[in-house]
Amino acid sequence: MQTKFLLDETQMPKRWYNLQADLPEPLPPVLHPGTRKPITPDDLEPLFPKALIQQEVTTEREVEIPEPVQDIYRLWRPAPLYRAHRLEKALGTPAKIFYKYEGGSPAGSHKPNTAIPQAFYNREEGIRRLTTETGAGQWGTSLSFAGSLFDIDVTVFQVSVSYNQKPYRRAVMETYGARCVASPSEMTQFGRQVLAQNPNHTGSLGIAISEAVELAVQDPSTKYALGSVLNHVLLHQTVIGLESMKQMEMADCWPDVIVGCTGGGSNFAGIAFPFIGHALRGGEQPRIVAVEPSACPTLTRGKYAYDYGDTGHMTPLTKMHTLGSDFTPPGFHAGGLRYHGMAPLVSHAKELGLFEARSYTQKQCFEAGILFARNEGIVPAPEANHAVKGAIDEALRCREEGKSEVILFNLCGHGHFDMAAYTSYFAGELSDHEYDDQELAMALSGLPPV
Ligand SMILES: Cc1ncc(COP(=O)(O)O)c(C=O)c1O
Repeated sequence: MQTKFLLDETQMPKRWYNLQADLPEPLPPVLHPGTRKPITPDDLEPLFPKALIQQEVTTEREVEIPEPVQDIYRLWRPAPLYRAHRLEKALGTPAKIFYKYEGGSPAGSHKPNTAIPQAFYNREEGIRRLTTETGAGQWGTSLSFAGSLFDIDVTVFQVSVSYNQKPYRRAVMETYGARCVASPSEMTQFGRQVLAQNPNHTGSLGIAISEAVELAVQDPSTKYALGSVLNHVLLHQTVIGLESMKQMEMADCWPDVIVGCTGGGSNFAGIAFPFIGHALRGGEQPRIVAVEPSACPTLTRGKYAYDYGDTGHMTPLTKMHTLGSDFTPPGFHAGGLRYHGMAPLVSHAKELGLFEARSYTQKQCFEAGILFARNEGIVPAPEANHAVKGAIDEALRCREEGKSEVILFNLCGHGHFDMAAYTSYFAGELSDHEYDDQELAMALSGLPPV
């Protein structure tokens, strides 16, 4: 009864996979926030190094992973693939459940897969300061870790509600030498503007992004790093799916269903895109399911439209599933899934019918995560619990239908810094939030006319 499927370090992918090469229709263009005309690579240079801008637009199928990045990846990669024998037994399902575990990285999630190359390319172009946002704290931790390896000063704007919920995330970022600030903050003009209107604002990823971008554009030696959403971030995360493909072959199985949780879309794309590309090139076609919170239902109830990536409207306009850039979701515990938008590439793939999406409320997800922990041992991050719930529901469907399908899901992070959320769940203090149509329509009424 094999439980772990482990790759040798020599089997780690040497190239990332780019879904743009295999898409039947290209991505809609990114628009300049002022002119509303397609942007040029030059427009992005105040924010990102040239190498990452190039990765943003490339349609090459494979992009070389630089040797120094591979060297660092080897600290935790290849990541293990597990067969969830005990969970299968607890569910009484004939399905075979596999999970790719990304929680073994130094930050505890998939986020360092892109933090390391982003810091590497910035350092190659002489950048010594990076700014960023973080929701759950996983991304801020990852970029802080990457900054410490490449000698880059990192300033992290952490969404205020999670800054207060998770003081130890900040302590880890500081351990890596970074500065972590609660957002909205007094450090930026936009932060001060938000606080003037509401001194108790709980923050949002959209606001934190505006603060980080504002600092970066003011100083040519500072650039901005984003932990999700952008094409290059999704590209870096494909190491997850590429490894999983080899591991599924080791297990002599191929997934019928793949499940991932979606905040900005990067861990989902990481596991799903290599399989989607394989199917687009004529390979087997698994069903792919994206799971999001009902409290931030971007893919299931958002509009596919051009919108800003941030609340301060400093970023370019991208076509994506959005709830409106002013949308402030409630302070529910999956802090990493509280973004108003979705990766343009994930949104485009959704429009092309390449995967399906569903949403769950947070209590259902904690219940699923606890069942998982009691059988498999790992306590998932609240974000990852959405994928666990999705996989469990698929396994229960298999039980009803008497099918022994192969289910693969991405366990994108552990929840060791999220135990306050678990405590609230056990104390019966969590509530579920669903939006009525009127609330959603209000949030969407501010979409830019494009
Ligand atoms: C553990 C974890 N999972 C998922 C996410 C959501 O991001 P993405 O959808 O880009 O994977 C986050 C974001 O912070 C996270 O920390």
